[in-house]
Amino acid sequence: MTVPPLKFTKMNTTKIFIKTCTFLLVCCTLANAQAGYGESTLGSGYGDSILALSTPPTILTPTPAPAPAPAPEYVNLTDLLSVAGPFSTFLKYLESTKLIETLQTQANDTEEGITLFVPKDTAFSNLKKPSLSNLTSDQLKQLCLFHALPHYYSLSDFKNLSGAGPVNTLAGGLYTLNFTDESGTVHIGSGWTNTVVSSSVHAKDPVAIYQVNRVLLPEAIFGTDIPPPAPAPAPVAVPDVAPVADGPDADAGKVKGKGKGLGSAASSSTPSSSCRIIGWNGWRWMVMVVAVSGGLMVVL
Ligand SMILES: *[C@@H]1O[C@H](CO)[C@@H](O)[C@H](O)[C@H]1NC(C)=O
Ligand SMILES: *[C@@H]1O[C@H](CO)[C@@H](O)[C@H](O)[C@H]1NC(C)=O
Ligand SMILES: *[C@@H]1O[C@H](CO)[C@@H](O)[C@H](O)[C@H]1NC(C)=O
Ligand SMILES: *[C@@H]1O[C@H](CO)[C@@H](O)[C@H](O)[C@H]1NC(C)=O
Ligand SMILES: *[C@@H]1O[C@H](CO)[C@@H](O)[C@H](O)[C@H]1NC(C)=O
Repeated sequence: MTVPPLKFTKMNTTKIFIKTCTFLLVCCTLANAQAGYGESTLGSGYGDSILALSTPPTILTPTPAPAPAPAPEYVNLTDLLSVAGPFSTFLKYLESTKLIETLQTQANDTEEGITLFVPKDTAFSNLKKPSLSNLTSDQLKQLCLFHALPHYYSLSDFKNLSGAGPVNTLAGGLYTLNFTDESGTVHIGSGWTNTVVSSSVHAKDPVAIYQVNRVLLPEAIFGTDIPPPAPAPAPVAVPDVAPVADGPDADAGKVKGKGKGLGSAASSSTPSSSCRIIGWNGWRWMVMVVAVSGGLMVVL
């Protein structure tokens, strides 16, 4: 007597279970599709649209949303110059003239930033001809400021400055530098000095610090009566250029240029993280399907 109703209710439970499962699945799909749609209209990034197109139900954990904040971190020039290099001679000049504060203020200016050409200690010790020893303190200050541009330039930016005429330095007025870019190598000309950027110490907006192998001597201090390139400067010029063409700076420039362009870190991390999401989501779906069929089998 009690058997048929029992069987009937069992079948009924099965139907209810199937319906519930179907309903849940449909809900899930709809919710996910909606989330995906919202994400793709809100998010403008390349990675977002790819995600939304290929895997609509994967936006439950939107990884591209926390975009890397572009807040430039404070760069302590004293710290940087004392660990890199050796640049202790230049740093000593900057500290004795108190210009380090002027440069730090410029570096703190995130709108303009700074580009600093720092001669190695050997550049100062190799400097024989025009001596720095009898410069007035004002001349010494101007000489130091002559090594700084009141703007941040990445290595690739020097392509624009190449041949564009004299570029003003922080020393102002007649204290200008000429730049030429020769297949990625930045040549610096001051009349007295022709050298190259031999290495990139730091190049992240707003602070660029490039190593140079020679002290930049301004005509505004040493005059335009520049001695013709005697045999003395010639041997110096060779190691000046040689390590640059194949040296680490060429690579550094390329890496920097790429990194600056589109935020390579962000774009490269997006596909991998989306892959991870797809994998994880796929697993969830599989588990769900297995659970549903398992439940059906148990009920039946
Ligand atoms: C920068 O670094 C120098 C040397 O470590 C330190 O003496 C100075 O206080 C630092 N400046 C700031 C503003 O943190
Ligand atoms: C530069 O900025 C840092 C951090 O905001 C600050 O501590 C320092 O005093 C500033 N230095 C100058 C010279 O403006
Ligand atoms: C600097 O000293 C050198 C000798 O050491 C001398 O020939 C030169 O004229 C001096 N320059 C100035 C501006 O006094
Ligand atoms: C470099 O030149 C290009 C075109 O010649 C220009 O679009 C770009 O803004 C320039 N960049 C800088 C930093 O001046
Ligand atoms: C810089 O380049 C200009 C031409 O653009 C030239 O007239 C000037 O003499 C150069 N200055 C130096 C210091 O090389």
